[in-house]
Amino acid sequence: MSLEKIVSKVKSLNVDAYLTLDKAENFYLTKFKSTFGISLITSTGKLLFLTDGRYLEKAKKEIKAFEILEWKSWEKFFETLKSEKIESIAVDPNRLKLSIYRKLSENLQVKEENKFLDEFRAIKSAEEISLITRAINIAELAIKSVLHILKPGITEKEFRKELITAFFKYGGEGEAFTSIVASGRGSAIPHWETSDKEIKDGDAVIVDFGTIYKGYVSDITRTFLIGNVPDEIKRIYEVVREAQEIGIKSLKAGKSCKEIDLAVRNYIEEKGYGEYFVHSTGHGIGVEVHELPTLSKRSDEILKSGMVVTVEPGIYIPELGGVRIEDDCLVTEEGTFVLSNLSK
Ligand code: GLY
Ligand code: MN
Repeated sequence: MSLEKIVSKVKSLNVDAYLTLDKAENFYLTKFKSTFGISLITSTGKLLFLTDGRYLEKAKKEIKAFEILEWKSWEKFFETLKSEKIESIAVDPNRLKLSIYRKLSENLQVKEENKFLDEFRAIKSAEEISLITRAINIAELAIKSVLHILKPGITEKEFRKELITAFFKYGGEGEAFTSIVASGRGSAIPHWETSDKEIKDGDAVIVDFGTIYKGYVSDITRTFLIGNVPDEIKRIYEVVREAQEIGIKSLKAGKSCKEIDLAVRNYIEEKGYGEYFVHSTGHGIGVEVHELPTLSKRSDEILKSGMVVTVEPGIYIPELGGVRIEDDCLVTEEGTFVLSNLSK
């Protein structure tokens, strides 16, 4: 994290501080997990973190970079800001409740700045890359350890339960998001809700999974073909695999995100399945499962060295089934380094 660049952005907005109550942003800035806290980064480079009695002592011990203050009430909070000479703030409207925005606006000059921190978060430090890599390794060890039970007779939910247990067993902090286990016709729905349905011979089974390691996530998808699947499923499997390969090979610092999405999308269209690829090609991962950049045809972002993105094309044919394959890739000046390493 480049605190200097963040402070420069605060200055350039002509406000006294950036303020956030967002859980992911608080973690990104302080590396401290809490469900309630307020981070302030001032234009003079001062860093303040307020939290309540549930976290205060731990925060004082663990957060070195910020001055830790106790949260008592809004009244006291505004008094603190006054004593710190903070009269104007920037906030990200995507990450603030309307009721809190109103409270802040009644007491301070508030400037809205969309995605204030997101552009910084998109570029990962070496430490962040190593934490994401560990989250990927743990998820891969976990799924490998339970794959032998993915066969006819087990339900989607039972498989999800074993996978979650395995995340913990290998050192993960549970699920990074609600894992998707989508079998048979369910696999034709990109974000199927894992159900009590039994897996059957002939099913495609999409498993979209990831765990958390020290606050950083992984996000991987594999599609498993159980027994005798229809020929069309085998065909779309190959198309998705090849499309994903094209996407991964296209990644490089300096290229546009739109261009990556289009390379993948055009290939799937050429193969006659364009109408069945109903989502974007990928997204950044980090503290959250969906971060910048977005690899979509509407994106105007440019890839930069240090971004970690998913490449996850899919084809979903209603009533038949679907295939999605997703890997996590580090973008570099030379191209990409695929961080996930699970066979396809
Ligand atoms: N893995 C869930 C998603 O990318 O939306
Ligand atoms: Mn994903």
